[in-house]
Amino acid sequence: MKTILVTGGAGFIGTNFVYFMLKKYDDLKIINLDKLTYAGNLENLDPLKGEKRHEFVKGDICDRELVGKLVKGCDAIVNFAAETHVDRSILSAGEFIQTDVQGTFCLLEAAREAGIRRFVQISTDEVYGDAGDNPSSETDPLMPRSPYAASKTGADRLAFSYFTTYDLPVIITRCTNNLGPFQYPEKLIPLFVTNAIDDKQLPVYGSGKNTRDWIFVEDHCDAIDTVLHADDKHNGEVFNIGANKEFSVLEITSFILDYLKKPQSLIKHVEDRLGHVKRHAVTTGKIKDALGWKSKTSFDDAMGRTVQWYLDNESWWRRIKEKQEDYQKFMKEYYKNR
Ligand code: NAD
Ligand code: TYD
Repeated sequence: MKTILVTGGAGFIGTNFVYFMLKKYDDLKIINLDKLTYAGNLENLDPLKGEKRHEFVKGDICDRELVGKLVKGCDAIVNFAAETHVDRSILSAGEFIQTDVQGTFCLLEAAREAGIRRFVQISTDEVYGDAGDNPSSETDPLMPRSPYAASKTGADRLAFSYFTTYDLPVIITRCTNNLGPFQYPEKLIPLFVTNAIDDKQLPVYGSGKNTRDWIFVEDHCDAIDTVLHADDKHNGEVFNIGANKEFSVLEITSFILDYLKKPQSLIKHVEDRLGHVKRHAVTTGKIKDALGWKSKTSFDDAMGRTVQWYLDNESWWRRIKEKQEDYQKFMKEYYKNR
């Protein structure tokens, strides 16, 4: 049986990845290390109680001793753990630098000591900054525009340096915006879906014309699995992951309102995000040509399944929105003048 250490596996993409991998492979064990910050939710993993192939460990990726112990006996590491919300990084960046950079450093050190066979660093397309006229390719300069993006860039390049310096078998992925089940309701889609269900306003930053490429989370998980199993000749490489489906915030908002049969009057244009990136989009030719991966889910299907998941799992998001102190504090502070 192969064993992988998944960090941040109680968050949005991590949770989806754990389910994806356990369903696909019978002979796989996952050690899931998560600090359970405001964004981590152990309830996501309830159906795995009693599942011997999944071991949950509550802990910090910055805890070198703990990480060292867990990495021993693992074949690979997939590092999802991070502070991830751009808006929170604008209010306060310290935790981003601590977890995203220092935490990745700690994992890389442990991986080096243990002689791990594959280290997948989950980076992001945010490292490129604004895509401008052309989708960002893997060789484009890195121009992160938020403290979140800059912290992820630090981790991305630190991981690369462990390949060039110590020959650690690192591969770095840079994916576009994900949508799907289990996303914390401070991010665009779950925030707007759950607000719309409750007939609350949808705060569109600035014009709402900013675009992102949106990929269904399951397709992202499939791409990470592909990278995890890629030939050693790809060590040290970067792979963009995306769906090549660009939509503006206003288009996403209209889809949500139409699906839920709610009026456009719920849209409220508010003060723009500082440093707001106009366009995130990536080229995906490299991963298609080198590893044979491409995204499969259509945008309508991905959006429909996502909105429906929030309709079917009200207690999941209501517990956060109505009871979690951290959520309420952030919303009050960040949206107070919006
Ligand atoms: P998320 O915020 O939903 O989950 C992050 C998880 O990491 C949480 O479970 C949290 O408890 C855990 N965590 C935070 N700090 C930790 C620490 N110090 N030690 C251990 N665990 C810790 O994030 P997500 O959207 O699932 O993103 C996962 C990864 O994917 C991140 O690295 C992010 O940068 C990257 N990414 C996300 C997207 C996206 O659209 N969501 C796109 C591209 C890349
Ligand atoms: P978000 O989900 O935070 O992802 P990211 O900033 O990492 O792309 O935001 C997606 C887009 O939605 C981004 O252009 C900012 C915009 N947005 C709003 O207009 N209003 C909101 O309340 C939020 C959370 C996001």
